[in-house]
Amino acid sequence: MKTIIEPFRIKVVEPIRMTTAPQRERLLREAGFNVFLLKAEDVLIDLLTDSGTGAMSSEQWAGIMRGDESYAGAKSFYRFQDRIRELTGFEHVLPTHQGRASERILFELVGGPGKVVPNNAHFDTTRANVEHSGAEAVDLPIPEARDPRNRHPFKGNMNVAELERLIQRVGPERLPLVMVTITNNSGGGQPVSLENLRAVRAVCDRHGLPLFLDACRFAENAFFIKRREPGCDHKPVADIVHEMFDLADGATISAKKDGLVNIGGLLLLRDESLFQRASSLLILTEGFVTYGGLAGRDLEAMAQGFEEVIHEDYLTYRIRSVEYLGERLLSAGVPILEPPGGHAVYLDAAAFCPHIPPAQFPGQAVVCALYRHAGIRAVEIGSVMFGASAKASAPHPTQTPPDAAPSRLELVRLAMPRRVYTQSHVDYVIEAVTEVHQRRQALRGLRFTYEPPVLRHFTARFEEA
Ligand code: F0G
Repeated sequence: MKTIIEPFRIKVVEPIRMTTAPQRERLLREAGFNVFLLKAEDVLIDLLTDSGTGAMSSEQWAGIMRGDESYAGAKSFYRFQDRIRELTGFEHVLPTHQGRASERILFELVGGPGKVVPNNAHFDTTRANVEHSGAEAVDLPIPEARDPRNRHPFKGNMNVAELERLIQRVGPERLPLVMVTITNNSGGGQPVSLENLRAVRAVCDRHGLPLFLDACRFAENAFFIKRREPGCDHKPVADIVHEMFDLADGATISAKKDGLVNIGGLLLLRDESLFQRASSLLILTEGFVTYGGLAGRDLEAMAQGFEEVIHEDYLTYRIRSVEYLGERLLSAGVPILEPPGGHAVYLDAAAFCPHIPPAQFPGQAVVCALYRHAGIRAVEIGSVMFGASAKASAPHPTQTPPDAAPSRLELVRLAMPRRVYTQSHVDYVIEAVTEVHQRRQALRGLRFTYEPPVLRHFTARFEEA
């Protein structure tokens, strides 16, 4: 059989509510043209993020009932720890409430002024945590990642030559670690190859540097390796996952992605003394080491989620549904970042609306149009999110601020929650995006009416230009 189906049937349904075009027009204006400020119940298909938005399985819900809520030494913790040790080979497993809590603990310990942290591409919270510690965050993507049309099979790879140059330039003592994000979210949900991870590991070994993974989407990355990397098609995904983690000294993970849960995170470490210090910080702000700010039931759900996510029928459905969305959009002439990513399709808003200059946020214009037209919520990843604001990037109030700089790419992310939407939902999204694209000349740019100084995309307000 050629047809790929959702490998589950639906036991519980959650109604979604259609709104009328005039209602959406009013709601969008009330939200200041910022879809973060909409109420979720006013959204029909919510593609804002794949993080914490997945559906749990019946076994995960059964685990919720089994959760052991003891403060210390809960049975649920040991089940979780066993599963993570088996999956990743890491001895030291700390639960946290989500990925950024792991990042905060890690960079509080290894970051600090004068330090430099390279990554293939930092996710925004990772960058924020590195910078909050006083360290500098440096992105080292491969050159192919800069071209939305380039179909490199491992477009998420780190630029190994640039990593070597960075180390030569600043000196290895200023790098506390090297980090690789799998899959590369900021770079379009693109995978990193085992070959690239090995090459980065070799550079780290030459300079005595630890290698850490930001492994939120490790299972999707492993499945891409199975499908695309020479010699890997016969390997079980579980073995590829092990190979990836075997190359690393530590990892931060948001379980809200490939943990198939709504909340949770992990910090994985090999170094005993780093583990001791991380445990102390965990206790200080998250909770005791056997619950890390979560309930026992959350640990049960994670233990089960980290089991289900490497099932190959699940991953086949998962990767194929995102690929299907991307390919259908491409054949309808809609410009996307190619090839489609693992968790999301990214529309190339600069090519979508060339008549809107970066200063008027073409990505935000497309986001607004998708909501107006079809009740779909997407997210802008472009000059609203990453463009340096003249105010925010001013070195000092007395110095002349530089001109506001646009983002390198103007993207709109359609992120697919896991096990939530069916193929007919995806077909609806394809139709909606195609129709908005056909009417793209009518889209208008936006300008700020309120511009917050940091992480401005969350709370900014706009008006149409
Ligand atoms: N690293 C990556 C690569 C991520 O994509 C995220 C979250 C995090 C770290 C932080 O994890 O949210 O659990 O604290 N990404 C979400 C997204 C928010 O929409 O892409 P968190």
